[in-house]
Amino acid sequence: METVLSGIRSTGNLHLGNYFGAIKNFVKMQHEYRCFFFIADYHSLTTHPKPADLHDNVRQVLAEYLATGLDPEAATLYVQSDVPEIPELYLMLNMNAYLGELERTTTFKDKARQQPDNVNAGLLTYPVLMAADIIIHKATKVPVGKDQEQNLEMARKFARRFNTMYGVEVFPEPEAFNFGEQLVKIPGLDGTGKMGKSDGNGIYLAEDPKSIRKKVMAAVTDSGPTVPGSPVSEPIQNLFTLLEVVSTPDTLAHFQAAYADCTIRYGDLKKQLAEDIIRFTEPIRERIVSIRDDREYLGKVVRMGAEKARASASQTLREVRETIGFKPF
Ligand code: TRP
Repeated sequence: METVLSGIRSTGNLHLGNYFGAIKNFVKMQHEYRCFFFIADYHSLTTHPKPADLHDNVRQVLAEYLATGLDPEAATLYVQSDVPEIPELYLMLNMNAYLGELERTTTFKDKARQQPDNVNAGLLTYPVLMAADIIIHKATKVPVGKDQEQNLEMARKFARRFNTMYGVEVFPEPEAFNFGEQLVKIPGLDGTGKMGKSDGNGIYLAEDPKSIRKKVMAAVTDSGPTVPGSPVSEPIQNLFTLLEVVSTPDTLAHFQAAYADCTIRYGDLKKQLAEDIIRFTEPIRERIVSIRDDREYLGKVVRMGAEKARASASQTLREVRETIGFKPF
């Protein structure tokens, strides 16, 4: 069975785009593959989070993933910093990662530009830690967005280099997991492009109704259709796409017909869309809150995850140490 692994940022809450994109697929995949999902809290240290926030960030993200249907029994769901084998492999991989190639990585260059006063070594070796995350479980499929493709390419390179250097086949080369047709792209509310966190154009799963209404009512539209059969502009198509995923087919058909005969009022569409998003996200939001506050349950989940992850990781690490030449006295 193929091993799938996904690293989850410990900052940034899930939005509707994440939900209809990767997460819906994860929920299915966890029963079809050997799946590892983990929260990359070590990676988050590259931006120096406040000690008072670190744990709550991890807890929130964990609660959100559990609330959307990740099953800790089916998948291995864990926190990166609970698995000491990962930093150990990272240390060894660092010995075969070269300054030049790390400096040329796009994500490094972007971050160095974003935080010129904090260009730390962790930022430079971010792709090495990410490679350790992946290859410690010998994962072969990694669902990543466009922005992470180069990091995955580096993981392949580090895996291959280790194998070649020692003349072994310890690590398979991880490839991108392509959702293909199944990936629904959810547009943002700013008229163009897809929903994302950085753009502030997204609706979060944990967002309260008041804030959802405000954001949806402020969504970009156009001046409206003037003749029957007018082409639909991107901002309006985006609102229709959102209706498609959260509203009933009747609601969608109603507004499509109103658009076609030019009687549509975008205010009505937005009001309906906001209520349908609220109806859709409300049960998820309630689950997030109740899971987030259930420390006992979360404790159980992470302990079980760490145990399963460490069982897999320590097996690989044993092979790595032996390959490198470490021997017990
Ligand atoms: N770098 C990824 C991101 O920013 C998170 C991540 C860390 C990751 N380790 C990983 C993703 C391993 C996939 C595999 O989104």
